[in-house]
Amino acid sequence: GYNSSDVAISVIYAFHPARVLEEGIEVLHHAPENAAPSLANGYHFRPPFGWMNDPNGFGRFGGLAHLFYQHYPHSLRWNTMHWGHAVSKDYLRWKHLPVFLFPSAELSERADGRGGAFSGSAIPVAGQGGEAIRIFFTEQMRDRKPEEQIQLSALCSDELSTQTPAIILPERPEGLGLTQDFRDPYVFKGPDSVWKMLLGSRDKAGGVVLLYETSDPQGANGWVFLGPLHREDRYGMTAAECPCMVPLGAVDAAQTRWALIFGLLTSRDPATGRRNMTSATVGRFDGRNFQPELEQELDFGSDAYAFQAFVDGDEPVGIAWLANWTDVSKREDFPTAMTLPRRVLWNGEAVLTPPVESAEGLRQSLLDDRRLAGGDRLEFENGAIEIELDLSVAGGPFELLFEHPEVDLGLRLGADGLEILFDRRNGKTSPRYLAAGARPSHLRIFLDAGSIEVFADNGRWTGTKRLPDFAEMRAARLSAAEGVVLSARVWQLKL
Ligand code: FRU
Repeated sequence: GYNSSDVAISVIYAFHPARVLEEGIEVLHHAPENAAPSLANGYHFRPPFGWMNDPNGFGRFGGLAHLFYQHYPHSLRWNTMHWGHAVSKDYLRWKHLPVFLFPSAELSERADGRGGAFSGSAIPVAGQGGEAIRIFFTEQMRDRKPEEQIQLSALCSDELSTQTPAIILPERPEGLGLTQDFRDPYVFKGPDSVWKMLLGSRDKAGGVVLLYETSDPQGANGWVFLGPLHREDRYGMTAAECPCMVPLGAVDAAQTRWALIFGLLTSRDPATGRRNMTSATVGRFDGRNFQPELEQELDFGSDAYAFQAFVDGDEPVGIAWLANWTDVSKREDFPTAMTLPRRVLWNGEAVLTPPVESAEGLRQSLLDDRRLAGGDRLEFENGAIEIELDLSVAGGPFELLFEHPEVDLGLRLGADGLEILFDRRNGKTSPRYLAAGARPSHLRIFLDAGSIEVFADNGRWTGTKRLPDFAEMRAARLSAAEGVVLSARVWQLKL
């Protein structure tokens, strides 16, 4: 039984597919509880209704950026997974499209009401009369029964719906000691111009990323297992989730490094107490073997999980779920959002993830532009703002504390690095959101009603934290020693 909104969408789509794609659709919330406006992020992508987690199938097809996502349309809790769908010209203004992928009827008869169409990816393929989209995803039959995770693929010729999915990998490779988890197919073109597929898995020691390839991504049977691409056991992680891989430079150049990005499920960093981190491992990749050279955390906050990127034109662009399984109970009602889309760049030493260039288009009006000294306050119209801080004038340690009646939020630059201060009132020992050793000279801080994102030195350090409710936040105060001066600009952002 689907809700009447789904029926309405299907009817609109059946009669006016071109219009749906062109204009998107106004969608009504299913139930008043789903609106939860005070907790909603204003300029971040969020689903029109229901629950959302990982970004899926992020790519450019037919000239538009498409974002699919893990979706449960009927409530604000995780449940049997669908794929939601939206399109954009600039990654920031999205049009919602009808629910794209439903858990297949045949498979869900065997399911116990959970599972569904899990995470995956999409690639452009030649279709009749233009470009078509081929998607890859995991169907999970029963919650946490890995032997029942299988990989499927489906063709989408009209950018709005899929043909019947076909099973492409019915089982895990044997003989590797893979104990659980076989999911989240990510398909991309390797440096040898052959289509590759990554899958997240685990063995007794930790996470394993598996590598497959095919000469025919359209065929159901062509996928050949090449072996484990990478193993990872940092921070007590149990599985690699949502792997993705992008070149940091020209795809076919021998010197190009690649970033392998994946979620460290159940990891915990003893130094900060943070969990479920996302790792970017940089190394050489010849299409078969990956030689890691450095490991870096993609985000020093807690809420940029299941990051997925693809190469758009010359440079990769990625987006992540603005949450983390540690904080989000599957049983709690929770309005979900995505992070700002980010570039994935390489400066010769580290991966940079600055916001996409079009994020400057969010700036509506310049509220403030001045030098800030200790004790000075910045005031805003509402909590949807960007603050740019230039620390090169007469920088030094500082704290910028946002004023909120219940929750502590701030940014601190100290001897040990750059830190998002969150909820440390009354001696609480929440994790530390610390970019250890960071000494940036330039910061962009994006606040929305439900999140803070900090981009330091063009995304050399990027930190994302989900907030309980900052819609009412109107001011911040600088605390710094005498002589410290920051140059600050504040923009009201378009909602
Ligand atoms: C990551 C994840 C994926 C899985 C999906 C299910 O957040 O656990 O591994 O495919 O969520 O919704």
